[in-house]
Amino acid sequence: MLQPRKELAVIPEYVPGKSIDEIKEKYKLKQVIKLASNENPLGASPMAKVAYKKCVENLRLYPRGTAPELIKKLAKKWKLKEENLIAGNGSDEILDLATRAFLNKGDYAVGASSTFSVYSSATQIAGAKYKAFPLEDFYYPLETMLSFEKAKIIFICNPNNPTGTYISNKRIYEFLTKVPKHILVVLDMAYWEFTAEKEPPLNLWIKQFPNLLCTRTFSKLYGLAGLRIGYGIASEQVISALSKIKPPFNTNYPAQIAAAAALDDTSFVEKSLEMNRTWRSLLLECFEFWGFDILPSGANFICVKFGKKAAEFVARLESKGLVVRHLKSFGMPEWVRITVGTKRENETLLRLISGIIK
Ligand SMILES: Cc1ncc(COP(=O)(O)O)c(C=O)c1O
Repeated sequence: MLQPRKELAVIPEYVPGKSIDEIKEKYKLKQVIKLASNENPLGASPMAKVAYKKCVENLRLYPRGTAPELIKKLAKKWKLKEENLIAGNGSDEILDLATRAFLNKGDYAVGASSTFSVYSSATQIAGAKYKAFPLEDFYYPLETMLSFEKAKIIFICNPNNPTGTYISNKRIYEFLTKVPKHILVVLDMAYWEFTAEKEPPLNLWIKQFPNLLCTRTFSKLYGLAGLRIGYGIASEQVISALSKIKPPFNTNYPAQIAAAAALDDTSFVEKSLEMNRTWRSLLLECFEFWGFDILPSGANFICVKFGKKAAEFVARLESKGLVVRHLKSFGMPEWVRITVGTKRENETLLRLISGIIK
């Protein structure tokens, strides 16, 4: 009988946030608000949309596999050589490439237990093992991960999905100085722009740490999740290994062009960040006022403890047309992750929660 590889038996399928259509269908609703997947509530960058539309005439052509226009712009933005960058079909793909390029069968990668699930699934798909350590007071367990001597990759999600907690540039830098050079550190910065910290000097970091791979995405701040485009920043040695195994046309042409345009859209970026900052603190204040436990967030979502009735809360919100993310699949069954939405979406959320509490 036809049998897939043995490793696949232990890999759980990725659990995405529920889609708008799914909830519309289930509850026979016309309108649904989705605050479950940390997408940009303002939509896509307008400059990216204009660039995207212009691509229609070129759809018959294969894209250029190395996304040269985008990589050139990124190199300028980060003061790096183009050889230090690689574009991926979402930053997901870069994570996947990293595991396949750097893990041998039976090797270990380490990460947190309540974190983005792709680290463990990509590791296992590569035929390696994932050692998960619990978060420490909801923060990434850096030193504990380092104490696991068999690790070949250390994953750090900063800010962490789903908690929103993050570690400062200074502490990450100190940590990197302690990591032996045969271990690849994958620093997933999907939500970094939403923190209160400055961008770290990644050009200097990757010079000093040839074993560092930073992953970034256009899915969150730039609002391009549907196009699937992200990238990796690392030493030439790491990028060259990833490039060898990437599919030849991994990123599509409209995604490359739209992402390059989005980089120039500073007013959209500012507007998105400002709205996120304002509403993230307002939402946290409201939940705290109601007596819920909350976590500090440096991301575009918040993490709230609803307790034993978390699943019921989530189901009640869904039935009223608002989708949030129950964190059972992240090993936090009493917690819920809520994407910061637009004013209208957030006000609807608060109204519904207040109704449920009463
Ligand atoms: C922490 C983290 N890393 C990476 C990703 C993947 O993003 P992309 O859309 O770039 O594949 C996500 C998506 O939700 C995420 O939460």
